[in-house]
Amino acid sequence: MTSKLPTRRLGGLEVSAIGFGAMVLSPGAYGEIDDARAERALLSAADAGATFFDTSDGYGADAHNERVVGHALRGRRDEVAIATKFGFRLPEGVEPHPFPVGFAFGELAVNADPRYVRGYAEASLRALGTDRIDLYYPHFPDPQVPLEDTVGAVAELVADGLVLHLGLSNVTAEQLRAAHAVHPVAAVQTEWSMWRPIDPDLLAAARELGVGVVPWAPLGSGFLSGTVGEVAKGDFRENAPRFDAANLKTNHDRFAPVRGIAGELGITPAQLALAWLLDQDAHAVPIPGSRTPAHIEENLAAGSAGLPGDVRERLAAVLAATEVAGGTLL
Ligand SMILES: NC(=O)c1ccc[n+]([C@@H]2O[C@H](COP(=O)([O-])OP(=O)(O)OC[C@H]3O[C@@H](n4cnc5c(N)ncnc54)[C@H](OP(=O)(O)O)[C@@H]3O)[C@@H](O)[C@H]2O)c1
Repeated sequence: MTSKLPTRRLGGLEVSAIGFGAMVLSPGAYGEIDDARAERALLSAADAGATFFDTSDGYGADAHNERVVGHALRGRRDEVAIATKFGFRLPEGVEPHPFPVGFAFGELAVNADPRYVRGYAEASLRALGTDRIDLYYPHFPDPQVPLEDTVGAVAELVADGLVLHLGLSNVTAEQLRAAHAVHPVAAVQTEWSMWRPIDPDLLAAARELGVGVVPWAPLGSGFLSGTVGEVAKGDFRENAPRFDAANLKTNHDRFAPVRGIAGELGITPAQLALAWLLDQDAHAVPIPGSRTPAHIEENLAAGSAGLPGDVRERLAAVLAATEVAGGTLL
């Protein structure tokens, strides 16, 4: 797979150093969106060099996000890798297993029982209009199913050629190690940004095992761009303590020194947030989401921006001294 952007390896998968996260393109996540705008966003990401697109069967109703991603990219399929996830928007008849998450989504219902995994994959392939999933993740580890069993079911899909690489999402270091012993894990997806540090044990395990890291919400759900003024009704950030009006203002003020460093470098705060992640680990591939072609081009251009060594140190000091109002969880 070639890209106008520098590329990075997630295990055996080579992708653009910055990908595109498509969750923002389904109603009910961030602000207003329709399918025509969503398709324009996806095509502008591909045009700007993204070769790594992240979706899930759980984004939007009835696999909306996968359908939009598959439709927009149908003419570019061989140029891009499509990652999707399973097990948190459940079809009828599949028993929900409660899974409390510490961020604005509240308690989720998941089911990653190996008996259902092939059915999930076949449904995703249909929605995406493709014959293979480049990277396939259980969206959340199922507290009622050993992760090794879920992973064993994905390994069968790899053997059959329906899935090319295994990923894990929202797991601990121990879970990553256990899964990797069953089948090689190409990438682990976790929330990671300047305002949400990664679990150091998870990062250490990924490095030791040769597993790539895909930071989700790399722009802090938009916050790190410095442009979030207020959160509209129906936007999931309405329920996130870090985004309530008072905390948002405090956080905006506290991050002024970070925006100052972006200004000095002549890049935008969003670009600095992404360049910082790229600098943290040679196998980190952030997946910012956006509905706006100008933002998408801006974000992907950060794939070629490096961080001068003194800036790395200054940022580390600034971030260590910056407490996030509203807690560390989204
Ligand atoms: N595994 C998981 O559990 C999990 C959970 C959450 C997300 N994810 C994945 O991670 C991806 C990214 O996360 P995310 O979309 O939630 O958060 P994000 O990428 O940190 O932020 C998205 C927000 O930032 C804004 N934005 C993007 N670029 C901007 C720019 N240059 N200037 C100003 N604003 C900008 C977007 O608004 P505009 O549309 O106006 O640009 C949108 O509101 C998702 O799409 C999804 O694929 C995975």
